[in-house]
Amino acid sequence: MTVSTTSPTPAPTPAPTPPAVAADAILRRQRARESSARTYARSFPVVPARAYGTTIEGADGRRYLDCLSGAGTLALGHNHPVVIEAVKRTVESGAPLHVLDLATPEKDEFTDALFATLPPVFAERARVHFCGPAGTDAVEAALKLAQTATGRHGLLAFTGAYHGMTAGALAVSGGVAVKRPVSGIAADVTRLPYPYAYRCPFGVGGERGAELSAAYTERLLDDPNGGVVPPAAMILEAVQGEGGVVPAPDGWLRAMRRITAERGIPLIVDEVQTGVGRTGAFWAVEHSGIVPDVMVLSKAIGGSLPLAVIVYREEYDRWSPGAHTGTFRGNTLAMAAGAATLRYVAREGLAERAAEVGARMTARLDALRAELPAIGDVRGRGLMIGVELVDPEGAPDACGARPPAPGTADRVRAACLERGLIVELGGRYDSTVRLLPPLVIGDEEVEAVLDRLADAIDAVTGGREAARGGVVRRSAGRRGAGWPA
Ligand SMILES: Cc1ncc(COP(=O)(O)O)c(C=O)c1O
Repeated sequence: MTVSTTSPTPAPTPAPTPPAVAADAILRRQRARESSARTYARSFPVVPARAYGTTIEGADGRRYLDCLSGAGTLALGHNHPVVIEAVKRTVESGAPLHVLDLATPEKDEFTDALFATLPPVFAERARVHFCGPAGTDAVEAALKLAQTATGRHGLLAFTGAYHGMTAGALAVSGGVAVKRPVSGIAADVTRLPYPYAYRCPFGVGGERGAELSAAYTERLLDDPNGGVVPPAAMILEAVQGEGGVVPAPDGWLRAMRRITAERGIPLIVDEVQTGVGRTGAFWAVEHSGIVPDVMVLSKAIGGSLPLAVIVYREEYDRWSPGAHTGTFRGNTLAMAAGAATLRYVAREGLAERAAEVGARMTARLDALRAELPAIGDVRGRGLMIGVELVDPEGAPDACGARPPAPGTADRVRAACLERGLIVELGGRYDSTVRLLPPLVIGDEEVEAVLDRLADAIDAVTGGREAARGGVVRRSAGRRGAGWPA
């Protein structure tokens, strides 16, 4: 394995100039015809025509640095030559593109590539199940597997979690707004406090908050009057992504592993967003050294194409044939692109590069707090970075955190787009700007991303002017900030 020290962004693949399309007309038609539940298209009125590496070119000719990367899917950025080559080779080979879950050379190769990346003690005795092509379906599979294997029902899940949009995944997720209209869907879930140093559920912050979370979990499970029937599984993310980029301390993860192991509760780690080098290790569990019972994998494992699997300890393999079936579980192209991606990330040391570039970005963002007081917290792991925006004039809570500023965050996202930078929001009240650049982002692109983001925050909040002692510009961003009603 080699560690790339220079920018590994490949040169843009020459591609024919896209036919001129009327971007405005496309946006208008899709707005009129698509569901009101559409998501990213609302915040990013862009019609992507070409893309390579970190760059998206809109049909209107504008270029953007993409730090959303398909919500963390594009480990190698857009249309990486390694991915394109794997897709072309597979298409030209005449291999069937759809095979249900039949055996194929591509599936064999993907499984080899995947198992080679997993923690060896886990891989040695693991099974893989190919799921429907979304992370949420793999979460459903993991929950069903654990319920079948244990004969129990209840689930332990965490505040701030995001596991997907289907019934079981939604039930174990934290977001209240999306659950409220469909509350009948809720499974038997016990909600536990996830350690979040900046907005600590116990009001103490730091490592102490994580220690209290572990102690509370353990006591609750052992309390004969605690109301929790022995559960089928605990599900968690090592770094909550949609939840606002909140990394759990390694010690807390080890505590969860010990607590679940001692009580015979399967531990499901959802690595849908954290996997394939994103956090600075190939899998996020490697930071703490824990070995889960089930890992849920999707997004980057398909090398831009839809693919989702669970990998689990073989003793849990007690479900029946067809227990989690589905039509689209044999995507030949995704397996070819995924195998090529997994091997490339490992060979080029891109997890290590993510750790190094992520540390550099986080340090620079942290330093910006002195001149941009709307930056309340900067956190993350590797190239999964969160910048939580706050109302700098709001009263701090017991841990020193100022009120979240969703209005500011919304305007910062728009100001970034105006500056040619795509960033998404997440976390409590959607107040955290999330950076998920490709692992191959180049050094110059890193500087451009940070400059554009800092400039956008400054433009919205007037922070630099205030820090210099000038008259504070009461921008709409600041007036609109504060706790939402
Ligand atoms: C941790 C985690 N789990 C599950 C999912 C759901 O994946 P999908 O959107 O492919 O259903 C996501 C999506 O963002 C995720 O971040």
